[in-house]
Amino acid sequence: MNNKLTLSSIRDMKAKGERIACLTAYDAGFAQILDEAGVDIMLVGDSLGMVVQGKESTLPVTVDEMVYHSRCVSAGNRRAFLLADMPFMSYPTPEQAVSNAGRLMKEGAAHGVKLEGGREVVPVVTRLAQAGIPVCAHLGLLPQSVNKYGGYRVQGRDPQQAQAIIEDAKALQDAGADILVLECIPRSLTEQIMAVASIPVIGIGAGSSCDGQVLVLYDMLGITQHKLPRFVHNFLEDSDSIPDAISAYVNAVKQGTFPQQEHGYD
Ligand code: KIV
Repeated sequence: MNNKLTLSSIRDMKAKGERIACLTAYDAGFAQILDEAGVDIMLVGDSLGMVVQGKESTLPVTVDEMVYHSRCVSAGNRRAFLLADMPFMSYPTPEQAVSNAGRLMKEGAAHGVKLEGGREVVPVVTRLAQAGIPVCAHLGLLPQSVNKYGGYRVQGRDPQQAQAIIEDAKALQDAGADILVLECIPRSLTEQIMAVASIPVIGIGAGSSCDGQVLVLYDMLGITQHKLPRFVHNFLEDSDSIPDAISAYVNAVKQGTFPQQEHGYD
């Protein structure tokens, strides 16, 4: 497993119909285990605010903290494509986005960045793409907007909101987004987005029709301080060790046995 994955390898996986296994990672030790298990994309998620720092949301996470964790993950990673989250308020303007994404790549050794939002972040995505920075867009449930929603809820059930998410996906793709994450939306909406998406789509609580899946590492190992959403499966429950649990997740994603119907939303 020494061949480093690039954005074009991830695109090739979509083209060949090979499912993409993605997990979050926050440190070098876990990164090495994920890498050896064949995880294709490691995401240094700002979920670290909740699962590592014990905060109530992802909002307090800083760029410095993301840079630090990205550098730690990079030290344990050899093969996976490494994405780092742009934390809350690190991309209010295209200029600030380029400067902070530049730090995540130069100091954090990330291969690309992920940011939340729809058409309102198109100018940011355009500018990052012009700067040669791989961008993963994130639609559906946006944890950085938790105070606007008043909680973590399924998004896109209402037909108008569903249509808005489809339009957002098209606009982000046209602006140069390279990968799309869909979080916590009904399966039928994911299917409509898949019909218009030419870029790889990674789902979390978005059903099985995506090109790949992602989970928060601590959630799929059952190490968590918060109530788990229904889209999470605890892979450690059926395994003897953490490396086995992570390999079981990678195999389940690759073979299409995870997620099951019970992990999705109507
Ligand atoms: O921060 C994170 O871990 C994420 C995943 C839930 C996709 O954004």
